[in-house]
Amino acid sequence: MTDETTARAVPALPDAQTVTAVTHYTDRLFSFRVTRPASLRFRSGEFVMIGLMGDPHPETGKQKPLLRAYSIASPSWDEELEFYSIKVEDGPLTSRLQHIKVGDEIILKPKPVGTLVHDALLPGKRIYFFATGTGFAPFASLLREPETYEKFDEVIITHTCRDVAELTYGADLIAELKSDEMMVELLGEENLAKIRYYPTTTREQSPTMGRVTTLIENGRLFADLGVPPLDPAVDRAMVCGSLEFNKDIAALMEAAGLREGANSEPGEFVIEKAFVG
Ligand code: A2P
Repeated sequence: MTDETTARAVPALPDAQTVTAVTHYTDRLFSFRVTRPASLRFRSGEFVMIGLMGDPHPETGKQKPLLRAYSIASPSWDEELEFYSIKVEDGPLTSRLQHIKVGDEIILKPKPVGTLVHDALLPGKRIYFFATGTGFAPFASLLREPETYEKFDEVIITHTCRDVAELTYGADLIAELKSDEMMVELLGEENLAKIRYYPTTTREQSPTMGRVTTLIENGRLFADLGVPPLDPAVDRAMVCGSLEFNKDIAALMEAAGLREGANSEPGEFVIEKAFVG
């Protein structure tokens, strides 16, 4: 057999992309980067379906792709795609995905969609990004997106996690934004000064403890940041976390007079569930 026939004998995954980097943060969290299909255009904040080929069917031997929705954590201008993922021990996809290595292939369906996009928000002055856990991913994209700073004077990112180690991906990204020469040049020093990072933990001691929902309700978030309470005239919000978190934040936004928006009808806040597998 020639090399060529050997190569042909191994079927490539459909919509295959190659893993270029993997970083593990905790036993529950990791991020990875893959090649970007040349034809893939997306708006920062959107998600795509990614996955691996499932196990062969016990009788037919057929393999079906195992796909889940993942927010793209990299910005629209990046030449690669980045993802931030949970590891679920018995999760059909993430139990396997957590073992990927540089050079491996994953499946990526190049059809980006989502509501955490600037187009779904009305103009405003201050934008809040509210995240829990891996819900930070779409904001990792939007924080690296120049449009965020063109549209808003102040960019507040809150991230609530169980413990300090789970904040690492977000904390590192924000530190890198402010220190990396390329990022500073691309986004501008004055723009980066608009970022207010507000990490909180719920199960381990850290400078700010508690669910961000509680800190909104009791006013501590606004007091700590030195900003006025939520005002639908100037404040906008994007929300990404668990279903319960999204529901609780939506209720707080609505109580403050903000209305939920969508691509078809922009509003004052938008929501997307953080995806797990
Ligand atoms: P808590 O520790 O009080 O449950 P998880 O790792 O389970 O996805 O949770 C991520 C973070 O989101 C945790 O700090 C968790 O707090 C917090 N959280 C979960 N549900 C809500 C909610 N409904 N409102 C605010 N924070 C929440």
